[in-house]
Amino acid sequence: MSRPFNFSAGPATLPFEVLEQAAAEMLDWRGSGVSVMEMSHRSREFVSICEEAEQDLRDLLAVPASFKILFMQGGALAQNAVVPMNLIGRSRSQTADFVLSGSWSVKSHAEASRYGNAHIAASSVGERPSRLADPYQWRLSQEASYVHICSNETIDGVEFQQLPDLLALGCDAPLVIDCSSHIASRAVDWSRVGVAYAGAQKNIGPAGLTLVFVREDLLDHALPICPSVFNYRTVADHGSMYNTPPTYAIYIAGLVFRWLKHQTESQSSGIAAIEARNIAKASLLYDYIDASGFYRNDVDKTCRSRMNVPFFMADSSLDDQFLKEAHRAGLQQLKGHKSVGGLRASLYNAMPLTGVKALIEHMRDFEARHG
Ligand SMILES: Cc1ncc(COP(=O)(O)O)c(C=O)c1O
Repeated sequence: MSRPFNFSAGPATLPFEVLEQAAAEMLDWRGSGVSVMEMSHRSREFVSICEEAEQDLRDLLAVPASFKILFMQGGALAQNAVVPMNLIGRSRSQTADFVLSGSWSVKSHAEASRYGNAHIAASSVGERPSRLADPYQWRLSQEASYVHICSNETIDGVEFQQLPDLLALGCDAPLVIDCSSHIASRAVDWSRVGVAYAGAQKNIGPAGLTLVFVREDLLDHALPICPSVFNYRTVADHGSMYNTPPTYAIYIAGLVFRWLKHQTESQSSGIAAIEARNIAKASLLYDYIDASGFYRNDVDKTCRSRMNVPFFMADSSLDDQFLKEAHRAGLQQLKGHKSVGGLRASLYNAMPLTGVKALIEHMRDFEARHG
């Protein structure tokens, strides 16, 4: 069966094998007689699905035992409120530091300011080429409850290639990362992280599931106004089943984790093998764009995202034609985010190298006719 290549930023393409397996198991999950959607979340079957998904994720990303993995709801935007409600009370001044690097970190800062003092430690928003502020120039607060970054800006195509080492910057606050659009695409240095959160609908599975990794010492600081379903301690103590979790989304995420593990089975390097593949895919596209003269990417080379590649043509009136012809060639969802325009290719784990090659072929052909 031939399917188009889907470059959507999210909800995004899923591995074909995962969709196939989900289809095969839709009506009767492994002899249980019911679909996963119809199972009680407290049933032996579903608890096994959930535990296996969590363990596979832990193995894949080498998540230390000192972190709880929570399956929550509300998306990454809910976490923009949930994080301050859980963490901002850690310091007497109720201050959190924010590093602004694009649209999503700007949103995180705005939401947090409803719960405490949201201080801008650095901003590179609006700079061209897009870049990240040097951590040694960040103006960190004396007693911050936490420091927030968006480790991959999906719209702007800006990615931290290394997480900042706050201790080396003289700051002992926990680092909070919104890693929605590059989770499971690369290794994570957990020694630098306090909380990581991600909506699942890009690299993990269906919308509706939000992954939260919380270092255990950060579970007990919630403000009294924090709803119980969003209190990290409550969710952790109930194994993510304080209320009904997004069961089907967890099941699909579990299949994706299995698929990722399977991809790396022959290599001992696990996530490093996935990361190497992502580097290869992104490099191919960036190298082509840089060499073309017809297309351009406006992000400094030191922080270009491997997952989301925004690109532009000098004559933006050609965008619609590019998109129409791409669609006819089986290349879908390449329109740039409305706030920045242009074009964007998202190259999540499930996008094969052949998809990137097909895109470059289309770009080359389009340039030959319009360049
Ligand atoms: C980096 C980042 N943060 C936050 C969001 C918002 O996520 P959600 O729609 O899951 O709330 C997105 C979504 O597209 C994103 O890419």
